Amino acid sequence: MATSVAKPFTAQEVSQLRAQFPILGRTGRGGGPIVYLDASATSQKPQCVIDAEADFYAHSNGAVSRGTHQLGDESTAAFADARATVADFIGAHPDEIVWTKNATEAINLVAFAMSNATAGRGGKAADIFRLGPGDKVVATRAEHHANLVPWQELCARTGAEFAYLDLTADGRIDLETLSVITPNTKLVAFTHVSNVTGAISPVEPIRAAARAVGALVLLDTCQSAAHLPIDVRELDVDFLVMSSHKMCGPTGVGALWGRRELLEAMPAFLSGGSMVANVTMEKAIYLPSPQRFEAGSQPVAQAVGWARALQFLTEVGMDRFAAHERELTALMMDTISSIEGVRVLGPTDHSDRLGVVAFAVDGVHPHDVGQILDADSIAVRVGHHCAIPLHTFFQVRSSTRASVALTTTPAEIEQLGVALDKVRSFFGKA
Ligand code: ALA
Repeated sequence: MATSVAKPFTAQEVSQLRAQFPILGRTGRGGGPIVYLDASATSQKPQCVIDAEADFYAHSNGAVSRGTHQLGDESTAAFADARATVADFIGAHPDEIVWTKNATEAINLVAFAMSNATAGRGGKAADIFRLGPGDKVVATRAEHHANLVPWQELCARTGAEFAYLDLTADGRIDLETLSVITPNTKLVAFTHVSNVTGAISPVEPIRAAARAVGALVLLDTCQSAAHLPIDVRELDVDFLVMSSHKMCGPTGVGALWGRRELLEAMPAFLSGGSMVANVTMEKAIYLPSPQRFEAGSQPVAQAVGWARALQFLTEVGMDRFAAHERELTALMMDTISSIEGVRVLGPTDHSDRLGVVAFAVDGVHPHDVGQILDADSIAVRVGHHCAIPLHTFFQVRSSTRASVALTTTPAEIEQLGVALDKVRSFFGKA
């Protein structure tokens, strides 16, 4: 991965950024300001995003593509602008962006389109999506359930085999297991960054192994798209999914990006209004993509809010945030791993990882850790983080996870260290 020359934010810049997030002014259970270290679960929203969504409802709300009145026209234009902004953020063409309600739905869209192709939908053009006994779908053991269960289900529906790339002892995708990708593999799906270990996946060798056997490649950028500059042409995958609520945008909207020729050939998933060119009592003729995949009313205000979030991130500078996060990641890793009895799940080196750090505190249940941190106004995620197989790999049922946001400060990470020491003393471990 190329090393960015961008500078991390100065303390003054971070404080100017923080001032734009009203929720950071809230007091937590400990009586101090909330220390939000749970951006991997959901990001907080700057005022400009909150305003964009509210302004849309206050001034422009109308049904998209369903009328000729002024409000409908304004809504339709705002929705189209939002699509163009999302596309631009990842170096794509607007026609390659399909709105979904989240990344999970985007993954299911591809999985169900593949089983619809297998059931005979889509004609000859959809051959590339057809699966059956003797074919294989490959994921990795590092996936959250959203990028695992839909593929298990697709294999159960079609009779294809489900297989996965395994991990090295420290939880990185083990390239020695690339041999799982065999000539009968039809699709390889993997995460760009693990939501448990923070490890950045080695995209190039996995993509090359998939390409060598003609398999499609789907990349899940839930954890990376708000943290690293993303360019679909550079990543050179076939499908990419992302989720607004992890990118400073509203909940309820996400997107599937797909190569245009693939989207054109892919059978529909959900069907109904807004995705049809003509309907008789016998059958329907579908619109081209992306509309073919967007049945029913869409998350218009949310898309407008998401677009504003992406403008905000662009103004802030994704390369500068990445540089800021590299510094904070090193501090967070050092702080957490220096506490006796705390085991970091995943790589302990600072390279090729983001500031997502899951850990186990010896003899203390993560829910107790979370509650003690919450009493000090520190918000972290506890549980299995929707990644049970990865926790099983690390021989734990659950963990505590702290994650870095755009607005995180070194002082907040130091506060986490102090609170973790408190957890140890509370349970008589120090
Ligand atoms: N993506 C969700 C999280 O990591 C599962 O919190």
